[in-house]
Amino acid sequence: MKAMRIAEGVYWVGAIDWNLRNFHGYETEKGSTYNAYLVVDEKIALIDTVKEPFKEEMLARIASVVDPAKIDVIVSNHAEPDHSGALPFIKGIAKDAKIYTAAGAGVKDLSAYYGDLGYTGMKAGETLSLGKRTLTFVPTPMVHWPDNMVSLMTPDNILFSNDAFGQHYASDERLDSECDLAEAYIQARKYYANIVQPYGMQTGKALEALAGLKIDTICPSHGIIWTEHIPDILALYRSWVQGEHDGTAAIVYDTMWHSTEAMAHAIENAFLAQGYKPRLYNLHYCHNSDVIADAMSADFIAVGSPTLNNNMMPSVASFLTYFKGLNGNKKKFIAFGSYGWGGQSPDQVFEALKSPKCEPLMPAVKFAYKPSDGQLKALEEDVIRALKGE
Ligand code: FEO
Repeated sequence: MKAMRIAEGVYWVGAIDWNLRNFHGYETEKGSTYNAYLVVDEKIALIDTVKEPFKEEMLARIASVVDPAKIDVIVSNHAEPDHSGALPFIKGIAKDAKIYTAAGAGVKDLSAYYGDLGYTGMKAGETLSLGKRTLTFVPTPMVHWPDNMVSLMTPDNILFSNDAFGQHYASDERLDSECDLAEAYIQARKYYANIVQPYGMQTGKALEALAGLKIDTICPSHGIIWTEHIPDILALYRSWVQGEHDGTAAIVYDTMWHSTEAMAHAIENAFLAQGYKPRLYNLHYCHNSDVIADAMSADFIAVGSPTLNNNMMPSVASFLTYFKGLNGNKKKFIAFGSYGWGGQSPDQVFEALKSPKCEPLMPAVKFAYKPSDGQLKALEEDVIRALKGE
């Protein structure tokens, strides 16, 4: 396990989690990395650590460059355990190291997790000299925890951005110039949708705070490092923060005997007829975290469930809970579903979707048992009329 050199005196000393498939409910089909960085200057600094089970991997990478006991400075940009889990371990080795974190929330969160390891809280704009280099701390609260901050290192102009601009993407390549770039963008979008999306306003403020800074390298805490494609990832973040729509309609459903599925296809036909790009997601096969990634930029969301025991299906309830917590974009919605008796589910879906960001396109639609071709055609025409505003 060796460190990977990023720039003169700057090394990646993190860990690759090839097998991660679930990150608190988010399906991480490409694994992840926990990125920690080592800066060797007059002082030796470790920027963030790794998830606790990977502490020996981090230690071995650090030891390939310097004696870990000689670390002078540990910066904790974020207290979530995937970045702070190895903090007590490394502090136990680098006993004289001072730990710097965000004033207030950073000190509070690290103290809650690990007790008093001796934290120095850094406020916005405060700096720390490492010798030839200086770290400047910029709080980015709620991107995506209250304690988040980023650290800009000059004169290298390296931004240690922690979760921002990250991706759950395990690879042996560390840089955007050498990795599968298309995959990095897919995973960056999925990461934003599943982690950062509800905090668009705060992320927008963070982007504004970074706008005037010269940044040559972005070192996030997950995935690949941005060097050649910084304008591209910044532009993508701006479009996500601004809630730009992409002309799609996410049609999300589960089905028992294909009746709700037939309704989904009638709605699909209506969107197609009106020039939108419908995308269908049967929740029996599609994971919430993938659906959220696509639904983030959709103009419309249609959610359908049969009625099961007087309720919507659990898969749909799960999706709606996830969607409610994450959705950051304005959308119009359709609630629909089939039933044998009872028929509560479409109204339940309708109520679950209503929010300041989600407005109904039309009343909830429900059909008993197996909808006829005529009923499905009528549904298609109703949706078309609603889309036309008639
Ligand atoms: Fe990657 Fe918020 O932790």
